[in-house]
Amino acid sequence: MNQFAQLVGRQLAADVRSLPARLRAALSGQARLARCQNIADVRALARRVVPDAVFDFVDGAANDEVTAGRNQSDFAALQLHPRVLVDVEQVDLSTTVLGQPVALPLLGAPTGLTGLIHHRGEAAIARAVQAAGSIYVLSAMASYSIEEIAREAPGPTWFQLYVWRDRGLVRELVGRARAAGHGALVLTVDVPRAAVRERDRRNGFGIPPRLTLRSLGQGMVRPRWSAGFVRHPRMSIANAAGHGGGARDAVSLTEYINSQFDPTLSWHDVAWLREEWSGPLLIKGILHPEDAVQAVSAGVDGVIVSNHGGRQLDHAPSAISALPRVVEAVGGRAEVLLDGGVRRGADVLKALALGARACLVGRPLVYGVGAGGDAGAERALTILRDELSIAMALAGCPAVADVDGGRLVGAPAGAPASLQPTGGPT
Ligand code: FNR
Repeated sequence: MNQFAQLVGRQLAADVRSLPARLRAALSGQARLARCQNIADVRALARRVVPDAVFDFVDGAANDEVTAGRNQSDFAALQLHPRVLVDVEQVDLSTTVLGQPVALPLLGAPTGLTGLIHHRGEAAIARAVQAAGSIYVLSAMASYSIEEIAREAPGPTWFQLYVWRDRGLVRELVGRARAAGHGALVLTVDVPRAAVRERDRRNGFGIPPRLTLRSLGQGMVRPRWSAGFVRHPRMSIANAAGHGGGARDAVSLTEYINSQFDPTLSWHDVAWLREEWSGPLLIKGILHPEDAVQAVSAGVDGVIVSNHGGRQLDHAPSAISALPRVVEAVGGRAEVLLDGGVRRGADVLKALALGARACLVGRPLVYGVGAGGDAGAERALTILRDELSIAMALAGCPAVADVDGGRLVGAPAGAPASLQPTGGPT
């Protein structure tokens, strides 16, 4: 055998010997996450490891899911006009939100029942967001209680409130958020009634999830998810124990919302809440500029332009298309944040350029925790942060203060007029 053949033989033998270890490494959770190049990959991984009904609960939206789709396609329709020959050796993503310093203009959006996708749910996302130097907004409908999150993720947290018919519970939640040191209260106002999420209806999704032959079959082919679910079940609304939606009440989310939430909620209640809570107050779910003006008059500190990720009124405008007019109407009297459809760092840059102080992200972080628990939530956040940093460098913006809307972002010919910028950043 000549020298070359001996070399090839030795290499092949080494490859065969190391095959089991390499296979194990390639199939490990960490390796699968590391292979995710973007949020679409994280979503695809979550879809593979989580039962369909749970994935659909997270991924789905109202009716035809038109608004959910537009949240993303309207971001994609916007162009960035880069400036060159700017020193971008250091890119500084830090800013402040309602006076609180954050290391990047990205907050964790409130998502309810996140423990269904992975038992670490809200705790994993809160830790990832705080470790990145930002703020996690804990949902009133979370599967972890306010006190559990305070223990698991003691960093900066805001509390998102829904208004139950039982005002005693609402007052109690506000008091518990205050006691846990939450830095702001976020009142979500776009759920006067449950929307129809057709995927959930088709799947018979409820709290707790219903066991059917199909769901049992799904669980068997997703053993990692099932083991976590059986060992650490997180399937109820932890903050409102005893108010329906507990582990023993089998109801659809629609039944829960329509029986428990107060559909008479109005600006009077905002005034009441303003009295109850002396810290920063935000309203989430604003799309119309006149509502934004009214929110400012009601004394709120911030508005979150949001259509609930397309999960409430289908055919509502995309968040990014509603942003410029809200920013103009608010006129710097409150901070304007945005959520809905952020899947790329460049989306955050576009929102900042159109006047948002920061963005919140919902599904990307939930896909992350579904794909790989704590490490998955971290991976999703790292992807978005790195993308934002690169987009800022390539656009010629070494700092958030350099993101100048007038020059940076534009809609191509033929894009809806609502996508045209109306002013600079707040
Ligand atoms: C949500 N959202 C939400 N909003 C809220 O104010 N309270 C809540 O309890 C929930 N729950 C919830 C659960 C799940 C699974 C999702 C996906 C979303 C809406 C959320 O805060 C945010 O507005 C959207 O998720 C933003 O859109 P993206 O980032 O998911 O596209």
